[in-house]
Amino acid sequence: MAAHRNIVILTGAGISAESGLRTFRAADGLWEDHRVEDVATPQAFRRDPDLVQRFYDVRRANILAAQPNPAHDALARLDREWRGELLIVTQNIDDLHERAGARRVLHMHGEGLSAWCTACDARHPWTGILRDEPPCPACGAAALRPDIVWFGEMPYRMDETFAALARADVFVSIGTSGAVYPAAGFVQEATSHGAATLELNLERSQGSRWFDETRLGPASELVPEWVEELLQRED
Ligand code: APR
Repeated sequence: MAAHRNIVILTGAGISAESGLRTFRAADGLWEDHRVEDVATPQAFRRDPDLVQRFYDVRRANILAAQPNPAHDALARLDREWRGELLIVTQNIDDLHERAGARRVLHMHGEGLSAWCTACDARHPWTGILRDEPPCPACGAAALRPDIVWFGEMPYRMDETFAALARADVFVSIGTSGAVYPAAGFVQEATSHGAATLELNLERSQGSRWFDETRLGPASELVPEWVEELLQRED
């Protein structure tokens, strides 16, 4: 295979599961005891801001308590050593890719450790709580919300992602159920531009049939194996 190929990697909740952060689609259909429409929509935030802020205050605390696992470490290694183009597009709001050392990361669904001021549009790194309505450090308004893309809102930086998918030689999806668009459509987009596609997941996902290859198992094992394989082949 030719050197310096372009890689796009999509990650979902499954890559952080072994760091102790729960995935979304548990068997009971609830997300941390809430229906998703009660906590992850703009309507929910208008209806009951306190409930939504408390929910994300807990998510933020969990993120801070979690540590990267060998899957995050392996992608950080790939980012360091890969001489071609590489983009990790994550649906996750945790910062475990960055804490493992990855740099080429795009958070399409926002970031748990960021607060967004709906009055002045500023974004601020945030590790504390938001339920007590702290003032925006830029404008002073008590108008901070989690910097999260909720259902019904537009994912961030889709132009960059689709441009990378159009150039990709390899597309890899890790730990995502393929239930939420637009991310669920990335595999078909990459395929239409000629990329080879690989899925690494604990179980077959809703999108498995679109991939050239699916490997089943825990991300902490599959991802380091795949990265090693790829870097060996490049030598
Ligand atoms: N290793 C690999 N895969 C795993 C592991 C693991 N240790 N544990 C779980 N998985 C797999 C599950 O089998 C499942 O297919 O990860 C996937 C997680 O799927 P979801 O919970 O649906 O998470 P995700 O695909 O990231 O959700 C997408 O939905 O609620 C929204 O915005 C939220 O970004 C999220 C989006």
